[in-house]
Amino acid sequence: MHAVKYCLEAAHIRPRDLTFVGFYDKPLLKFERILETYLGIAPRGFRSFLMAGPLWLKDKLYTDRNLRAALGYDGKVLYSEHHESHAASAFFPSPFQEAAILTMDGVGEWATASIGMGRGSEIDLIRELHWPDSLGLLYSAFTYHTGFKVNSGEYKVMGLAPYGEPKYADLIYCELVDLKEDGSFKLNQKYFNYLGGLTMTSPAFDEIFGGPPRIPESRLTQREMDLARSIQVVCEEIMLRMARTAQKETGMENLCLAGGVALNCVGNGRLLREGPFKKIWIQPAAGDAGGALGVAQLIWHRHCKKPRTVSAGRDSMKGAYLGPEYTDAEIEKFLRSTGAGYRRMQRQELLRQVAELLAAEKIVAWFNGRMEFGPRALGSRSILGDPRSPKMQAQMNLKIKFREGFRPFAPSVLVERVGEYFELAVESPYMLLVAQVRKDRQVPLTAEQTPLWGIDKLNIPRSDIPAITHIDYSARVQTVCRETNPDYYDLIKEFEKITGCGLLVNTSFNVRGEPIVCTPADAYRCFMRTHIDHLALGPFLLDKEAQPEWKETEEWKKTFQLD
Ligand SMILES: [Fe+2]
Repeated sequence: MHAVKYCLEAAHIRPRDLTFVGFYDKPLLKFERILETYLGIAPRGFRSFLMAGPLWLKDKLYTDRNLRAALGYDGKVLYSEHHESHAASAFFPSPFQEAAILTMDGVGEWATASIGMGRGSEIDLIRELHWPDSLGLLYSAFTYHTGFKVNSGEYKVMGLAPYGEPKYADLIYCELVDLKEDGSFKLNQKYFNYLGGLTMTSPAFDEIFGGPPRIPESRLTQREMDLARSIQVVCEEIMLRMARTAQKETGMENLCLAGGVALNCVGNGRLLREGPFKKIWIQPAAGDAGGALGVAQLIWHRHCKKPRTVSAGRDSMKGAYLGPEYTDAEIEKFLRSTGAGYRRMQRQELLRQVAELLAAEKIVAWFNGRMEFGPRALGSRSILGDPRSPKMQAQMNLKIKFREGFRPFAPSVLVERVGEYFELAVESPYMLLVAQVRKDRQVPLTAEQTPLWGIDKLNIPRSDIPAITHIDYSARVQTVCRETNPDYYDLIKEFEKITGCGLLVNTSFNVRGEPIVCTPADAYRCFMRTHIDHLALGPFLLDKEAQPEWKETEEWKKTFQLD
């Protein structure tokens, strides 16, 4: 509802101006899968069906009616299949005239992965893998077992993997996954519980992996690290095999990726290095949010037969800065109303000042222009720091983001400098490729440091840009080009002028467990609740020292519509 309302307002149109409304999957097909699944294993699944059933009936089956009522719209509602929406979101905005398409996620209606082909303004899916055999759900089972939240903690499992050894990989292949040469597989349902139960894994899973799931928030042990590494290795192998099949069946040189598994940027990095494709493009909103974009483009190209134009080497996501923006006047009105201390600055002066603060190891929150679409902060709603600082990683994890100390941070690097810092020869505008920090920048562990246990290793600088170097010397790179984000690019450039270093630490502007900030009020509250030193809010620069005492009253929250 909020999203629809925002889009209509931003476009200055009313529901009656709409020609079509699109929805990114087919609720009835999904309902069929759920019904069949539960009937197939009744009565085991009965309990969970009772819980899931009414919700489905209420919210999903009546999507059509809900959409119309909520919008005040009585035109046509068009539906595309879930993986077709992912595929469309991967291919249509890509910089390729033609490409193979690979989608992988938890599950849509029936499909859990698909291979397809895109040519001009058409896409075709040629192969599908079906529920309950799902790479997304397999990964989520390990997310659950290592004590993280399913559907959002997968990133943490990927980040934890380098601390472990792939000790359980053989066991996964022997017991859990019957993997075929072409990348398709069967999961042994004896070990899972998502068909009928309320958990991801079964007692049989606990038995072979040395105990029950870790209790969330309890101490991480070597077992979780080894489990994380093992499932990551298996996931990468399946991704590689599926990609090879996609290449064989389509004969294409380029690959487009979407679906939640395409957010596994370590896997994407391996696909790029070891896979059969020359170029890879990944939809930045690879999860289900991107489905909205996919169905809209399918309606445009397939249903309305509108042509698609590709501009050489450039995708049409324009940096994925598709969200809300606020005028200087709106921001200043907010700052006045809340009594904040701020200074308005000229553009060049602001860039210089922020770069100087960063060079002095200050942590600066950067709120600039349109918000990013998709899960990554790409320099519009970001918290920034100096990547050369050895204390930055611990400080940002514990004092700013209040999150687990093992998690690494990502770099934003000037696009023309990427090869000077990383083993990466292509652009990675959406932070969806992981690459190694260049050998000549790495600092090897000493003999005394090598036996240190897992997480302690993160506090030892591993390169001359330690804040963004993971313990295996990898980094989740965002390349920044002037064309899509001139302010952010010029800021990094200013930092480079002062320090000689052409990159910054970039982490999303939020704290653990909260969404990324959107409005100036969200931003100010996050700034005041954390140890962020300065906040650049459009052309206004705020110093923590110059702020009035922070009191978050009910009235304040109500005024700015905050929970
Ligand atoms: Fe999906």
